[in-house]
Amino acid sequence: ISSNQINSAGHLTIGGVDTLELAQRYGTPLIVYDVAKIKSQIHHFQKVFRDNHVKSAVVYATKAFESLAMFQLANKEHCHFDVVSGGEIYAALAAGVPGKMMIFHGNNKSRAELEMAVRHHLGAIMLDNFHEIDLLNSVLDQMNSKINVMIRLTPGITAETNSYDQTGQVDSKFGFDVQSGQGEDALKQVLHSPRMNLIGIHCHIGSQIFDVTGFEIAAKKMVKFAADWKRKYNFVPKIIDVGGGFGIRYVKSDHPIAPEDFVDAIVKTIKSQAAKQHLPMPAIWIEPGRSIVGPAGYNLYTIGSSKRVPGIKPYVDVDGGMGDNIRPALYHAKYEAVLANDPNAKPVQNVRIAGKYCESGDIMIQNQPLPKIKPGDILAVLDTGAYGYSMAMDYNMNPRPAVVFVENGKSKLVIRRETYADMIRLNQKL
Ligand code: LLP
Repeated sequence: ISSNQINSAGHLTIGGVDTLELAQRYGTPLIVYDVAKIKSQIHHFQKVFRDNHVKSAVVYATKAFESLAMFQLANKEHCHFDVVSGGEIYAALAAGVPGKMMIFHGNNKSRAELEMAVRHHLGAIMLDNFHEIDLLNSVLDQMNSKINVMIRLTPGITAETNSYDQTGQVDSKFGFDVQSGQGEDALKQVLHSPRMNLIGIHCHIGSQIFDVTGFEIAAKKMVKFAADWKRKYNFVPKIIDVGGGFGIRYVKSDHPIAPEDFVDAIVKTIKSQAAKQHLPMPAIWIEPGRSIVGPAGYNLYTIGSSKRVPGIKPYVDVDGGMGDNIRPALYHAKYEAVLANDPNAKPVQNVRIAGKYCESGDIMIQNQPLPKIKPGDILAVLDTGAYGYSMAMDYNMNPRPAVVFVENGKSKLVIRRETYADMIRLNQKL
């Protein structure tokens, strides 16, 4: 956190709002987004494209954080949207996102989802496999309709990140393998389909990536595929979509380059390679999720019990945990926190921040320096904005938290806290 985030009362502020006031007003656990930070990251991406004079789209990967307010915000900032389910299409439409701004991803889209996509004239279907080409052709025949498509390729790159977050390697459940010729077969099938209009090719090498080399190799390969296919089939992609995955800093030992610098490197690679291969310069699309919302999010918790045993690192318990942020339990993801009521206080202990869920693995932070604390203090876990609320659940029947947006000293509730009644609303008694 920066020093200007601490107000005269010595409290942590977000978007000009005192976090203690937020905790009091909305309760905890609470997820808070700094709207200015979200906008600024989108603008940084857009600026890279402007500065490089290339056609582009910033396609927000909605799975990182999806809510009506977020859809509205990104829509206003001219983002496109990467959606991966009928539910995401539904929510985006409900927020006023035009169908044409959405591209539909996924390795097993259902017939009903494809029909929905065609009905709402989605911007493109991201074709993932041969079954899907057949299914979409059948849907289009039945609906007597046409649609834009792109082909997702697995370029054969192993990104350096955890294995759940790798998606570009040959052995992946996503996309058409290029090395075995399946990508080319898919291309031929799509070019033969009178109802599919192929606008581009796509790859996504993974998530939370720190190294720019993987992106440069992927970009180079994509241009090469495009140039080969232009020679062989006279197909020229209007768009090369290089996916998302730009890593962010969660802890001090993380040293990613700025997300926009990844994009700058990608753009320069595609530009120079396209010139070399005599390929007309395509529009470049990116699909950032984490880098747009991650650093803008904070989870506020109230500290309750502690457990101290001689010789063992203390446990300090908060009123949330794996239900509102499953990433530590699922990926051993690391976070840092500050004491919101006194971020400047000198640390005097190293503790474990434990959640309230009935699982030993529900440890939010394994090693957190803290000043002296007492029950009722507010802890702010930093950089929680991506894949936190969107992966939240009511395990142990703990209600999912509320989410607020803050900007210019004002806060706005954008997702209300779940109630006990909400949690049993789908239940039927015997
Ligand atoms: N495009 C595609 C095709 C994707 O599959 C993803 C993420 C993205 C874009 C956005 O990637 P990002 O810029 O957010 O890294 N739950 C995991 C991350 C799963 C990522 C899934 N796909 C986590 O919490 O680390």
